[in-house]
Amino acid sequence: MKFNTKTIHGGQQPDAAYGAVMPPIYQTSTFAQATPGGHKGYEYARSGNPTRHALENAFASIENGTHGLAFSSGLAAIDTILKLLKHGDEVISTNDLYGGTYRLFTKIFENFGVKFHFIGMQNAKDIENYINDKTKLIWVETPTNPMLNIIDIVATVNIAKAHNVLLAVDNTFATPYLQRPLDFGADIVMHSATKYLGGHSDLVMGALIVKDKELADRLYFIQNASGAICGPQDAFLALRGIKTLHIRMQRHCENGKAVAEYLAKHPKIENVYWPGFETHPNHAIAITQMRGFGGMVSFTTKGNNYDEAIKIVEHLKVFTLAESLGGVESLAGHPASMTHASIPKAEREKIGVVDSLIRLSVGIEDEDDLIADLKQAIEVQ
Ligand SMILES: Cc1ncc(COP(=O)(O)O)c(C=O)c1O
Repeated sequence: MKFNTKTIHGGQQPDAAYGAVMPPIYQTSTFAQATPGGHKGYEYARSGNPTRHALENAFASIENGTHGLAFSSGLAAIDTILKLLKHGDEVISTNDLYGGTYRLFTKIFENFGVKFHFIGMQNAKDIENYINDKTKLIWVETPTNPMLNIIDIVATVNIAKAHNVLLAVDNTFATPYLQRPLDFGADIVMHSATKYLGGHSDLVMGALIVKDKELADRLYFIQNASGAICGPQDAFLALRGIKTLHIRMQRHCENGKAVAEYLAKHPKIENVYWPGFETHPNHAIAITQMRGFGGMVSFTTKGNNYDEAIKIVEHLKVFTLAESLGGVESLAGHPASMTHASIPKAEREKIGVVDSLIRLSVGIEDEDDLIADLKQAIEVQ
């Protein structure tokens, strides 16, 4: 099956009971047993639920994995990966990453004795400087949030395999429509399914996908033992969202390009971060591992003025000022005061998250309306 067909049919069958084309929402916490252990595949809904299971199969299908797991949030999925580790283990992570991931690593897992090295990975060779016999996980976000850096997945896979270290890729920004890390040899793909997979800003969810049964079993054990599963209604919504992932992503890519090109020509704009520009420092890698450049665009204004950035986001009318990304509607955020406020100012400025940085999640509205909205907000006195 090719990708567009998989988004609609991947891992799914009409429901066995009545042939429902969409998996029914099995809103139940438990399942009847004829005799102890004599059930029809499900016994308690933390351990498994048919609606969630249909979604997990769809996750596996679109990422070319063999096993998918659905969680109550993206962070719950990341938390599960980190629970593969133990006291004394070390992790090498991208330094430009979602602030909540950084917070989970530094404020929770460091307390349990896991050590993190946050490094720039644009030159994958730099990763080797931090590998030692305690390194158990390499954590990659690509494109990164919010600077839209691109990390070379194949080069990172080669390093991870040479040192027998697990490689997890947060594929939230790209989605499997644009990039499939398991195909390049990554061990785990993670998503905040809250974003493009759900696609409609109406749920919070996480996903893990792997292609190795033993690793899938270990992750499932942690999911079941810790309990951060998604509910059946959200599983249904995510399944419905995934069915249009391919056409939504096409439009996100087109509108992202139009917005990035508009901003790049605007006299008040200093920098535009979008991996589709030939001048983007990682463009050459992007074209080898992504089939398009997505709908995320970040920019700074000349003079790097905090108040001016706040004024711009406050004056947007079609773009909504809000946390999150990846929905059909365009959103704008100010990372320094919103998504990345949990990263100390000195740390975030080192990676480019300066006071005037604005991050756009370009939706699938008419491109002319988006550009007119940006124009009026940027040019407001
Ligand atoms: C790249 C990335 N990874 C992980 C997360 C966390 O996901 P969630 O908010 O679903 O817990 C986010 C949330 O914004 C994100 O942008």
